[in-house]
Amino acid sequence: MSQPSIIRTNTADLYDAHVVKNYARAALTLVRGKGAQVWDDAGNRYLDFTSGIAVSALGHCHPHWVAAIQRQANELIHTSNLFRHPNQGELARRLVGYAGPGRVFFCNSGGEADEALLKLARLHGVAKSGEEGKCYKVICAKQAFHGRMFGGMSATPQEKIQKGFQPLVPGFAFGALNDLASFAELVDDQTAAILVETIQGEGGINPCTAEFLLGLRQLCDQHNLLLMLDEVQCGIGRTGTFYAFESAGVRPDAIAMAKGLGGGFPIGAIWVGERCAELFKPGNHGTTFGGTPLACAAGLAVLDVMEREHLLDKVRAQNPHWIQSLTQLSTQYASQLLTVRGRGYLVGLQMAVDPSPYVAALREQGLLVVAAGNNVIRLLPPLIVTQEDLAKSVEIIRAVLAAKA
Ligand SMILES: Cc1ncc(COP(=O)(O)O)c(C=O)c1O
Repeated sequence: MSQPSIIRTNTADLYDAHVVKNYARAALTLVRGKGAQVWDDAGNRYLDFTSGIAVSALGHCHPHWVAAIQRQANELIHTSNLFRHPNQGELARRLVGYAGPGRVFFCNSGGEADEALLKLARLHGVAKSGEEGKCYKVICAKQAFHGRMFGGMSATPQEKIQKGFQPLVPGFAFGALNDLASFAELVDDQTAAILVETIQGEGGINPCTAEFLLGLRQLCDQHNLLLMLDEVQCGIGRTGTFYAFESAGVRPDAIAMAKGLGGGFPIGAIWVGERCAELFKPGNHGTTFGGTPLACAAGLAVLDVMEREHLLDKVRAQNPHWIQSLTQLSTQYASQLLTVRGRGYLVGLQMAVDPSPYVAALREQGLLVVAAGNNVIRLLPPLIVTQEDLAKSVEIIRAVLAAKA
């Protein structure tokens, strides 16, 4: 084989030449992280309020998490699900402790977790109707995001995500978020479940109200539907409670989670309540990698630190002052920053215009943030963030707003 004429050592060139172009990536190569900070290949430091899109719950390279992964890597990394491993059993026990009586299935990502929920809905439909293919519909929300796999993508009514991939999985209908009547009128004999994000992340930080969630619960009870909550982005402590739905006092039948659960190591999971926990049987669902000893060691380390360092209390304690300072900016720079919304460390700045130039300007000033639907800038600090770093984020945002005023 002939040698390439140019030996490429530059990361940007390597991406240009060899990586699929499905992302409009920032011109930034990150090489190191510690806590809420990351460094690029030129030695510049950034405050990371992306947390890898709500993933690095403990920030980067938390020593307890790193030690747990190192220890497990030295012992046993992978077994497949043909055998048991103590870590998977223990992580399932801990998650059941947070969600309530039920069972956990482990996978590797949010998309896979949502896919498992959608298969659960089908199994419930078969049990409910007594027939295959009769009761299979799932009602979701407009502006939802449930991942990129065929089921989740079909449950995500956005042209940019679905275009090019027809025909989609049939059986999805879409109500307006927080409009219970619009969900109720979609229910028919073929409906098996309702699936919503407790707080829409990609759609622009749109929370379900408590009344809406409780109303969905009632609707599901009336029609024997499963209430399934996608907590892939808003779960695992991000809003100051372990699951975001807790504050509404609602009890779902099933939950999808991922992102923060591994603190940066890929892992996803669904919790299924007792009512339908027996629907999955040997052979009707599975995964080679889901719930490896290593992934579960990472998950256990996240929960250990979250509990020992009282991170949920800290999120709740530190949030109000941060939100207050951000809201002051929306008063001062009202023509650019319209509103601030969200909970805990899942916060959206509703901008008046396309946020891309702001995201770039914030990066230049040392703050990494993520854009979301409908002109929103998402702020997703790690749960270990300090009050000082929250204050610093406000000052950087202030400076960028002032420069663009
Ligand atoms: C609510 C929600 N569900 C599902 C997903 C898909 O997760 P993953 O990218 O891990 O497949 C995401 C990812 O952003 C998400 O925010």
